[in-house]
Amino acid sequence: MTSSPNDLADEIRAALGSARDPLRQATQVTAFEKEVATYFGVREAIAVSSGTAALHTAFAALELRPGDEVLVPAVAVIMAVAPILYQGATPIFVDTDLGRVDFDYDDLERKVSPRTRAVLPVYMWGCAYNLDRLSAFAERFGIALVEDACQAHGGKWRERYLGTWGHLGCFSMKDGKLLATGEGGFLLTNIPELADACRAVRNHWVVPNHPAESHSRLGYNYRLTELQGLLARRALAELDTALDQRRAQTEYVLQGLTEIDGLEPYEYDARECPNYFSAVILRRDSITDSRNIADELAQRGIVNSVGTFGLRPVQEWPAIGVALSSRGPSGARPDVVCREISETPNARSFLKRVLALSIFSHYQASDLDGIIEGVKSVLMSVSGGRLA
Ligand SMILES: Cc1ncc(COP(=O)(O)O)c(C=O)c1O
Repeated sequence: MTSSPNDLADEIRAALGSARDPLRQATQVTAFEKEVATYFGVREAIAVSSGTAALHTAFAALELRPGDEVLVPAVAVIMAVAPILYQGATPIFVDTDLGRVDFDYDDLERKVSPRTRAVLPVYMWGCAYNLDRLSAFAERFGIALVEDACQAHGGKWRERYLGTWGHLGCFSMKDGKLLATGEGGFLLTNIPELADACRAVRNHWVVPNHPAESHSRLGYNYRLTELQGLLARRALAELDTALDQRRAQTEYVLQGLTEIDGLEPYEYDARECPNYFSAVILRRDSITDSRNIADELAQRGIVNSVGTFGLRPVQEWPAIGVALSSRGPSGARPDVVCREISETPNARSFLKRVLALSIFSHYQASDLDGIIEGVKSVLMSVSGGRLA
């Protein structure tokens, strides 16, 4: 796509003009779907109104229902888990590998059951899971692999993009993501039947080529607007540049942080190519909690997952407990759910140690230096006892 301001104004006028016709062909959105599928090397892409909508569309297309279980990591955002609960299904919280974002595969094996329908890796900060192992696990148990790649645009495991390994890959295009349209999202799949089901879920189960089937099931309004489709096409054309820029920004911050006493790098697997969405680093001290440090960083304007967004083992959010305990006896397994809340010790200790610092495309060198200096100063006050 071209990028001069005049062209953009013309394109916006055209997109808005056609958007006024409710029977319009969604030309920008359709073009975006083709282009994003080509970029990621998959058969089908389905644009939706948010990353949460993408995940919910995936679970609705898979026809998850009460009694079904989905294996989810304890290190995840609530938006990854809520769509499972929207379907009335049950998230089963799995521990993470020690000091890493990936699953603890022993715990995963322990928690799979005849009720398990899907497994959901959540690529926090653009970090990959071991997708050879996870794909084999999903295949062995005949369950769906749904990827939460909402933070992971452009990241790879063994040269293959995150979000293209599973039955469905889900992405966000919320502002701050590497491909952003204000709000928005999309799904990727190589399975045409699932793509059709996702399109129907997105639009109140309207089935364009089979009108007799329309509204035979409930769907949602998860459509992306034409204007956002246009923005998405432009953002996609600039994704490689955005990825290069983010890598340089994050590597700069990580380099600066590695020189600070008391911090150690997050160990990326040699087979992964992260998108460096955020700068992830660990405190060596595994005894005290990072939360005070993370809060202090947030107060100083340094955006980070634990301090700014309150990241915690996801099952600890009150809303999850409320959603699970308000279930009738048929769908819920309160015994299992409650027991497992205390059973993700690695996730808990990981979140005690991790500093996950948000990097934004508009950050200048001085902002990146400000992050490094801010972390240095907060850690010094910790060792001086003020924040401990
Ligand atoms: C890992 C993850 N999953 C899901 C979501 C939900 O995406 P959205 O905010 O577009 O609904 C986000 C958004 O930040 C996210 O980071």
